[in-house]
Amino acid sequence: MKHVKLSQTADLMPTLGLGTWQASPEVIESTVYKALDLGYRHIDTAFNYNNEEAIGNAIKKWIDDGKGTRKDLFITTKLPHVGNRASDVKKFLDLQLKRLQMDYVDLYLIHVPFGFHCDAETLTPVVNSNGEYDLDLDTDHVSTWKVMECCQKEGLIRNLGLSNFNEAQIEKIIDESTVKPQVLQVELHAYFQQMDLRKFCSDHDIVVTAYAPLGSPGAKDHFVNKYNYSPDAFPDLLGHPEVNEIAKSHEKTPAQILLRYLVQQSVVVIPKSTSDKRLKENASLYDFELTPYEINKLKKLDRGEDGRIFNFLFWKGVENHPEYPFKFLTLAADTK
Ligand SMILES: NC(=O)c1ccc[n+]([C@@H]2O[C@H](COP(=O)([O-])OP(=O)(O)OC[C@H]3O[C@@H](n4cnc5c(N)ncnc54)[C@H](OP(=O)(O)O)[C@@H]3O)[C@@H](O)[C@H]2O)c1
Repeated sequence: MKHVKLSQTADLMPTLGLGTWQASPEVIESTVYKALDLGYRHIDTAFNYNNEEAIGNAIKKWIDDGKGTRKDLFITTKLPHVGNRASDVKKFLDLQLKRLQMDYVDLYLIHVPFGFHCDAETLTPVVNSNGEYDLDLDTDHVSTWKVMECCQKEGLIRNLGLSNFNEAQIEKIIDESTVKPQVLQVELHAYFQQMDLRKFCSDHDIVVTAYAPLGSPGAKDHFVNKYNYSPDAFPDLLGHPEVNEIAKSHEKTPAQILLRYLVQQSVVVIPKSTSDKRLKENASLYDFELTPYEINKLKKLDRGEDGRIFNFLFWKGVENHPEYPFKFLTLAADTK
């Protein structure tokens, strides 16, 4: 249960990874080093988290200190929305590998299915004078994917995947690619269990990684003044009475129950923490088991679409992109 096997390469992906969104470079460097010392072997980052260089420093130091080798680690990063086009894949991947100080990444994901035009100087999205993001309407997943396949052949990427794609978008890549998507990273927690999407992935031999597995308690502060966001969107999963009750009976914490619940179903989890205590807590998942009765109780917490936190509407105008993956959300709002 500590690993899942990826299709096509048979690489082993640790079911526990360290999330690093909202972790500043100053903090994440020592966090990653500590996490590796604690036994974490899987780190999740992205171009957009602005911390790849610090993570690279920590990993290099850990290896130079003789504590392990690059082969012991599973490093994931993501092609950003501003680079979501065939002609930019190599440019971003090269830059990311340089920042991470690595020859290859274990997993490269297209971060989101939509694309924005890129400010060449800052490598951030161009925002129009009305506050809307400058959509790249030519986003073409298949041609982007084909370049990723070439990068895999060159040895720069070991495994290929997607993030925040819907079923139809994934299916199109499956139909038109040589290397099939091996991993899908999506929002997934007890309030938003994504059962249909998980069944689809299982049918296609795609491993699912759960982001925001604790319900992303820290996101509330991050989104506080963002366009289109209400603090009501953020669930208090860790405070849920049933999660707490199950935690007590196992002498575990609510976070451990929420993570174990997913790992026990072969879902990969990538909780983020920069606290020594919580890093340790989140890694202690493999010495107990939830009963079928408890699993059933947790299954019932699913709120379906109402449990979704990350709809990306904070990027003003994103719903007008032809590849915005959750069109049904805006259509439902229009008919209210
Ligand atoms: N692909 C995507 O679009 C996407 C989107 C969002 C996230 N992600 C990835 O998924 C990772 C996880 O998602 P997330 O960071 O949004 O949410 P999360 O892991 O569900 O929650 C992280 C938050 O919970 C706190 N926390 C961690 N362990 C805890 C514990 N044991 N008890 C109580 N609080 C705890 C952390 O604070 P402390 O640091 O203070 O402990 C942090 O504020 C990200 O870091 C990122 O790598 C990907």
